[in-house]
Amino acid sequence: MQKILYTNDITPALHSLVDSLAPASVHIVTDVNVATEVLPRLDLPWSVITTPAGDSAKDLTSLSAIWSSLIEQGATRRSLVINIGGGVVTDMGGFAAATFKRGVRFINLPTTLLSAVDAAVGGKTGINFLGYKNEVGAFAPADAVIISTSTFSTLPPTELLSGYAEMIKHGLLSSAADYDSLLDYDISSAPLGELLPLLEKSVKVKENIVLQDPFEKGIRRALNLGHTAGHAFESLALDNNSPVPHGYAVAWGILVEMILSHLTRSFPSAQLYRYAGYLRSQGYGAPAITCKDTDRLIELMRHDKKNDTPDHINFTLLDSPGHPVIDCTASTDDIRSALDIFRDLMGL
Ligand code: GLY
Repeated sequence: MQKILYTNDITPALHSLVDSLAPASVHIVTDVNVATEVLPRLDLPWSVITTPAGDSAKDLTSLSAIWSSLIEQGATRRSLVINIGGGVVTDMGGFAAATFKRGVRFINLPTTLLSAVDAAVGGKTGINFLGYKNEVGAFAPADAVIISTSTFSTLPPTELLSGYAEMIKHGLLSSAADYDSLLDYDISSAPLGELLPLLEKSVKVKENIVLQDPFEKGIRRALNLGHTAGHAFESLALDNNSPVPHGYAVAWGILVEMILSHLTRSFPSAQLYRYAGYLRSQGYGAPAITCKDTDRLIELMRHDKKNDTPDHINFTLLDSPGHPVIDCTASTDDIRSALDIFRDLMGL
């Protein structure tokens, strides 16, 4: 089981983890941005392996460079890797550690809200391959994860909003009370200091789901809430050469899937207005779509890798906040209506 520490005193926490694991050597994996903006503040005494930043660098070339550096730095099977960065670093550094000498121990220190609430926890590691996201990887839990908000102060607001969408998702999966407290928090202007307890609660939701279903055979699929429609928005934006942050696409996707939950299940309509109002008040914007994009969006949902067959579009839906239902499907007509209502609610 992954040990998860919640603290804003990162350096002492890392030292005590390293002491308790007593590795033969320690190797930090990070990217160029974190190496200049975050690492100097942490003042850590260990070797550093720096990769290029960005999702396009989450590839075989960077992975092979990490393995090479581990060899050059004399890493052994008893060594420890510490991944410090966003989701690209924790996914790729985790995979490098999971495969080097058939697996060395590793710690994740996520430096973005999105990676803290999602990528760094739950044991999914991997790289993109031949243009497919996370095509090659392994389930390999970190020995420990340090969750801290102290590295978020330099993040642009877009990054915070993006990560917060995944927290809202966890609230919706967990309980009406958790969801309410997330919508009561003003992520666009509240002080970061108040975020750590909310983040802790959110990570625990994911931890609990992953504990029940580490290899995503069942209930872990609930974590895909918002992602079937969200990935379609993300892919459409990418095809139109105007990429959107992942979390924004998820935030919009959650609304589409709430609407589908209302059309096909018991999800209350009042919740649709409330959530759409929250997105507007926090500045999530809206996807650049018109009714002309509906067929393309449905086609993109059909090709989502979560589907078992192309004629069955898989969604996680909700009966109400706190009551998710996995492995739902919806007819093309329902999805079409949901996208029409979505555009109305978003004022498009
Ligand atoms: N990002 C969803 C999961 O870890 O299963």
